[in-house]
Amino acid sequence: MSGKLFHITTFGCQMNVYDSEKLSERLRRKGWKPAADREEADFVFFNTCSIREKAARRVIGGLQRLKPLKAKNPQMVLGVGGCVAEQEGRNLLAEIPWLNLVAGPGRLDEVADLLDGLTADMPPAVLAGRPETTEQSGLTPDVPAADAPDHDETPAPLSAFLTIMQGCDNYCAYCVVPYLRGRETSRPSEEILREARDLVRRGAAEIVLLGQNVNSSGRPGRRGGQDFVALLKDVAAIEGLKRLRFTTSHPKDFSPELVELFGQLPPLCEHVHLPLQAGADAVLKAMGRRYDRARYLDLVARLRAACPEVALSTDLIVGFPGETEENFQETLTALEIVRFDSIYSFKYDDRPQTKASTLPDKVPEEEKARRLALVQELQKNLTLAKHRTLIGRTVEVLAERPARRPGQLAGRTRDNKIVNFEAPSELVGRLVRTTVVEAWPVSLIGRLAEEERPERLERTARAAQAPARLP
Ligand code: 5AD
Ligand code: SF4
Repeated sequence: MSGKLFHITTFGCQMNVYDSEKLSERLRRKGWKPAADREEADFVFFNTCSIREKAARRVIGGLQRLKPLKAKNPQMVLGVGGCVAEQEGRNLLAEIPWLNLVAGPGRLDEVADLLDGLTADMPPAVLAGRPETTEQSGLTPDVPAADAPDHDETPAPLSAFLTIMQGCDNYCAYCVVPYLRGRETSRPSEEILREARDLVRRGAAEIVLLGQNVNSSGRPGRRGGQDFVALLKDVAAIEGLKRLRFTTSHPKDFSPELVELFGQLPPLCEHVHLPLQAGADAVLKAMGRRYDRARYLDLVARLRAACPEVALSTDLIVGFPGETEENFQETLTALEIVRFDSIYSFKYDDRPQTKASTLPDKVPEEEKARRLALVQELQKNLTLAKHRTLIGRTVEVLAERPARRPGQLAGRTRDNKIVNFEAPSELVGRLVRTTVVEAWPVSLIGRLAEEERPERLERTARAAQAPARLP
């Protein structure tokens, strides 16, 4: 097996990014090496997303374009994982007959072992649903890396994802996730903490706790899982961890104790992603979100009272079945009232099995497009106005990677804004202070503060303390 090359392409959410990272860790441990591109790989894997139709179609298109590659290299093993694999299962094999492996999101941890005995001329393997053995924690047992940290010296990402729960029990009317990722289950907190410590030891400065609904863990009526607030406190206490984030949280599960944590727990960053989905009560009700506009706005007010500098982002869907023009206007007014720092907005899509797909009064495609454009135009102006107020302010940035423009680095502020700034590459991995000099709708331009310039850093104790960094 040694010397074989793999190539993974990840679509969709951060949980897929985490799952792909775990799969590559497992493969590397078995002697596989990452391929520079797909052409030279022995194993090509697509980890896919099915949340909206466009995402799913893109995956199928991508797979179809692999046909010539497969023709050139018939021994290449081609696999599809994630939500499209779960949803389409064997249908995918009919559509893409040169596929060798299909694995749903709950079965990805079996892929590396399966490859030991799978060649391109064998009948394809299909793994879907949840295996019995993971019933208890709801997640696959952790990879040996975290069990035997001394043996894994692969550097962790500077900002590392950590999945703490899987699945979702909310069954929002539009959402396919509960059908694809299954019922909600939390990982045991000792396992989460062990993995978090290991990530920090391997160089992660920031941890992002992930789940479809992270803040429901430990809430009344939920199976298993430590209280989310207690978990945040435990992770935040890990020595060496600079920043802690979590996503996604559901407004209905956002406890007063969680609100109070902002501004109190030093590594916890001042940013909350809080999906609103729609501004009108009638639409929220039809969506099955279990909060109304007033309750959402109250939560925002309480968060800002607890931590005035907290940044807020959200998800919005326009054109849910039955959404009237009047309803839609309430989404626009909600944007004006809250003044989010950023939003992700989508046209409603019918998804298989969902309640909304059976509802009458579908909004025509052109109307959805019109509403989406209005939402995005409004938010662009609001974000830009917000960004402009930052000009002249000095902000802490985690220098994450070289920016697209040569000579610049890119990083994020604690409140999750992207900052590009001129700096030498040896500052990657450091927390630096930059002064905002320009504001754009999606990012800021910063200037490295005087005291952060490398010639000075070398003379300060701070440079010696900076974490050892990525390749
Ligand atoms: N149509 C449009 N957007 C959707 N989302 C989830 N399901 C759908 C759908 N059927 C959006 C929601 C969710 C985000 C991840 O994707 O806004 O929060
Ligand atoms: Fe989907 Fe709603 Fe669950 Fe989020 S909370 S994953 S939108 S069902």
